[in-house]
Amino acid sequence: MVAAYLGEIRKVFVGLGDLKQVFLTELKMFQSILLLLILLGSIPTPLLVHAQDDQSGFISIDCGIVEGSNYTDNRTTINYVSDAGFIDSGEIHNILEIYNSFSVDTQLTTLRSFPQNTRNCYTLKPTQGKGNRYLIRARFMYGNYDFKGQLPEFDVYLGPDYWDTMKFNSSSKSTYTEIIHVLSSDYIHVCLVNTGRGTPFVSAIELRLLANNMYKETDFGSLYLYARVNFGTTFSTVRYYKDKYDRLWDPINWANSTRLYTLDEVNSGLFTTIDPPSDVMNDAISPKYPQESLRLNWNPINATDRFFVYMHFAEIEILKKNQKREFNIYLNGNLSYGPFSPLNHTTTTIYSTEPEIASPTYMLLINKTKNSTLPPIINALELHILKQFPQKLTDDRDTAAIRSIKSIYSLTKHWQGDPCTPQEFVWDGLGCSYNDTGSPRIVLLNLSTSGLEGGIDPGFANLTMMHTLDLSNNNLTGLLPNFLSGLNSLNVLNLKGNNFVGPIPEGLLEKANKGLLSLSYDGESMGGPASSCEGNTCRNKKDNKIIVPVIAAVASFCVLMTAIAAIWVIKKQKTRGTRLEIRKQQYTYSEVQNMTDNFDVVIGKGGFGTVYHGYTGDTEVAVKMLSKSSLQGDKEFQAEAYLLLSVHHKNLISLVGYCNDESHKGIIYEYMPNGNLESHLFETSSSILNWEKRLQIACDAAHGLEYLHHGCKPPIVHRDIKCTNILLNETFQAKLADFGLSKAFPAEGGTHISTAVAGTPGYLDPEYYTSNRLTEKSDVYSFGVVLLVLVTGQPAITRYANDNIHICQLVNLKLAEGDINNIVDPRLQGEFDINSSWKAVELAMACVARTPSRRPTMNEVVMELNDCLVTERARQETKPKKLTGLMSLNMESTYDPNPI
Ligand SMILES: *[C@@H]1O[C@H](CO)[C@@H](O)[C@H](O)[C@H]1NC(C)=O
Ligand SMILES: *[C@@H]1O[C@H](CO)[C@@H](O)[C@H](O)[C@H]1NC(C)=O
Ligand SMILES: *[C@@H]1O[C@H](CO)[C@@H](O)[C@H](O)[C@H]1NC(C)=O
Ligand SMILES: *[C@@H]1O[C@H](CO)[C@@H](O)[C@H](O)[C@H]1NC(C)=O
Ligand SMILES: *[C@@H]1O[C@H](CO)[C@@H](O)[C@H](O)[C@H]1NC(C)=O
Ligand SMILES: *[C@@H]1O[C@H](CO)[C@@H](O)[C@H](O)[C@H]1NC(C)=O
Ligand SMILES: *[C@@H]1O[C@H](CO)[C@@H](O)[C@H](O)[C@H]1NC(C)=O
Ligand SMILES: *[C@@H]1O[C@H](CO)[C@@H](O)[C@H](O)[C@H]1NC(C)=O
Repeated sequence: MVAAYLGEIRKVFVGLGDLKQVFLTELKMFQSILLLLILLGSIPTPLLVHAQDDQSGFISIDCGIVEGSNYTDNRTTINYVSDAGFIDSGEIHNILEIYNSFSVDTQLTTLRSFPQNTRNCYTLKPTQGKGNRYLIRARFMYGNYDFKGQLPEFDVYLGPDYWDTMKFNSSSKSTYTEIIHVLSSDYIHVCLVNTGRGTPFVSAIELRLLANNMYKETDFGSLYLYARVNFGTTFSTVRYYKDKYDRLWDPINWANSTRLYTLDEVNSGLFTTIDPPSDVMNDAISPKYPQESLRLNWNPINATDRFFVYMHFAEIEILKKNQKREFNIYLNGNLSYGPFSPLNHTTTTIYSTEPEIASPTYMLLINKTKNSTLPPIINALELHILKQFPQKLTDDRDTAAIRSIKSIYSLTKHWQGDPCTPQEFVWDGLGCSYNDTGSPRIVLLNLSTSGLEGGIDPGFANLTMMHTLDLSNNNLTGLLPNFLSGLNSLNVLNLKGNNFVGPIPEGLLEKANKGLLSLSYDGESMGGPASSCEGNTCRNKKDNKIIVPVIAAVASFCVLMTAIAAIWVIKKQKTRGTRLEIRKQQYTYSEVQNMTDNFDVVIGKGGFGTVYHGYTGDTEVAVKMLSKSSLQGDKEFQAEAYLLLSVHHKNLISLVGYCNDESHKGIIYEYMPNGNLESHLFETSSSILNWEKRLQIACDAAHGLEYLHHGCKPPIVHRDIKCTNILLNETFQAKLADFGLSKAFPAEGGTHISTAVAGTPGYLDPEYYTSNRLTEKSDVYSFGVVLLVLVTGQPAITRYANDNIHICQLVNLKLAEGDINNIVDPRLQGEFDINSSWKAVELAMACVARTPSRRPTMNEVVMELNDCLVTERARQETKPKKLTGLMSLNMESTYDPNPI
């Protein structure tokens, strides 16, 4: 009798208690179908769907290699990556050189150990996510990495649940633990737990996506690998790429057996879903003497272990006519399956369809039937122990949100594994609610005194069950976002000890007033005007190269519109530029009708709707009504209103109020009696702006833009700087207008432009056309074009014959001639300072540099333009004034350099 004690390779065997009658009949049925098909001369293609042969379902982590590095393993062709992206604790080490022999897998030569903290976890987020079946494996080799020569012992957990205890026989031997597990969450946490018997460590972690029809016994629970054996070889372990699922098939040395071997391919066929690779199936063992049986023994790890047995058979000898191989399979003395004849070069898997009954010891006996002329064989065997991982992981959305918060604020907390489970390791600062039917939810987040910097991340709004949020005593800045009021359960919000600016969102105030929310904040820093920085205080700040969206996300139009807490109303004439009142200005549609004398005087038209002239009291206003047909308008409308609410600057148009009646939406601005800059520049305009005025307007516009870029956090990119968006008040002070609208509303009457690219032809950064990247430098380009238009009095694009000539080309050509008089608007009749005009042209050309990085920042532009203005004024003082028009006179007399 040939016998093997499988316990020797530790992972060995189970009872085939009841190898299901069901399967037996199925198999018989299949055999007859197959026969029939062969008679008909066609073989069906395999019905089974397999995972792809590539590594797309793999995550292969070599712990302890250099952070960010990766390599392709020579033996397996598997790509391993560093573990640094999966864990943020531990130390990296190498095994000692003496243990690093040729036979040691590269992945085992480095490791990460965890002398700190009881529990440290790797977190993996496979792309295929929850509901899929994965093989999860952790590999270990001690290699005396710590020079202590003491073999450690520690526990491995899968998330909150115990998985295995790792013990080591020697420094030079590697071991691994593996389970097949269906994900109930998008995350997998492999946790190493110090049990006081040495420092935990890990050498490699491997995750493999399995096909949907494999190991369906996971319906009973997860499958812990006890043994996976390749009979008939003493050669090395078979794994990827020979096994596309990268299972490890270990060779077993079985004395007194006969080895069978074929060079031919063994097919998977219809009788296995497990799909052992041909390299495993092409060898087998049989007893040395034909009359003997095969016998395998193993012991459970725990008395209660219930095994699943998978036996893989294929006939790999060419049988003669009078030969027959037929055998029965007995588990612990009971006939489990048989009589059975392996199929020729085709795998049949005989397996437990239910967990076997627990037994103190197991014996699998395979003996030939009386009619069989050949002894029994077996090619491969797998033994799995049913293991339950019962604890539910935190709700995936909560986990995603809190992990994103952790990374956005670079929190250094020891937040590892699942946020809410196990309960003794709930993340510090978190509170969770538990419930028998659902996943745990995060209900409390205390990030008090955690060194948070920057704005409040929108991710907080994804913690939808949160009732308490404590963000006190951090360095948080920026506007208070509206989305916090969308958290229905939130009843405690502590924002004290931060550096917020701007009003408290109305939604929060409302909840607080209704007693639904306990809101704590620093009174002084809240409710005032939102501008955090004005004028010269920006000057010293460094150029901010961050690419920012025009405006932060706004929760909803309604929330936005009710959120208006403070509005500066600018009254005209005597009271111009002083703070009159701070109040909410919401107008009804009928009030707007009154205001505009039933929309009598149209002062502008665009894709978004129409702009009307009107009055509130004796203050002139401009009313922009969103046309009903402009369906996309809402978002841009919100964006503009939101931006105007949050920024205040003398060179940005001011908001007077808004209308949000059902289908009528409108924004009411201060009225700019002198219209837009373009209307004063070209030949059609009746008057001429003198040089100083032009420089002043350029300075004003540059100040406005500088404020958006460098005075606001986050920086704001206007995206549609052009002469028609620079408006002039009665003193010709320039203000930027049309924020956040450019994307959806191309310039009126302009050439058609793709909606994918926002901006206006002629003014639009060519770099933005190609890269679609939005940066402050795109505004700088547009500003450069404005400056060229101001200097030359020519439009951004001129039509010559059949060509569109861009103003940059035009100026470039003239620059080559070297005469500034050919460049500057001839209508100025030479009345300008030569130096300042050269400087302005050079500055403009720098702004329109092809390469964004070579363009100046708006800080620099403002400084240069100020210099130009100073030079020009000096010229005027040393010369008798020669006024070029009425407007200049007006300006001189009423100019107020600092209206606000
Ligand atoms: C693997 O490849 C590297 C680099 O090509 C080589 O240095 C190393 O010797 C190879 N290892 C084995 C085991 O072939
Ligand atoms: C580990 O040690 C145990 C007990 O000494 C022994 O039974 C087993 O064979 C050893 N295993 C290995 C892989 O050396
Ligand atoms: C096979 O083994 C079973 C169980 O030990 C035994 O009852 C049966 O007689 C054996 N059959 C042969 C042909 O040896
Ligand atoms: C052995 O073969 C004979 C003739 O083919 C058949 O009648 C008999 O049922 C077989 N016995 C077994 C146990 O399979
Ligand atoms: C438990 O969770 C489920 C699903 O999340 C929810 O429907 C149910 O109301 C919760 N029960 C309690 C008592 O919280
Ligand atoms: C948050 O933690 C701090 C101490 O770290 C504590 O003073 C404060 O009361 C906690 N806040 C809440 C809401 O529990
Ligand atoms: C906030 O930032 C300032 C300067 O950047 C620093 O001095 C201070 O310690 C920070 N405060 C907190 C609570 O982190
Ligand atoms: C919030 O959740 C939504 C939907 O689940 C998701 O699309 C979004 O990326 C999440 N935001 C953050 C910041 O986590």
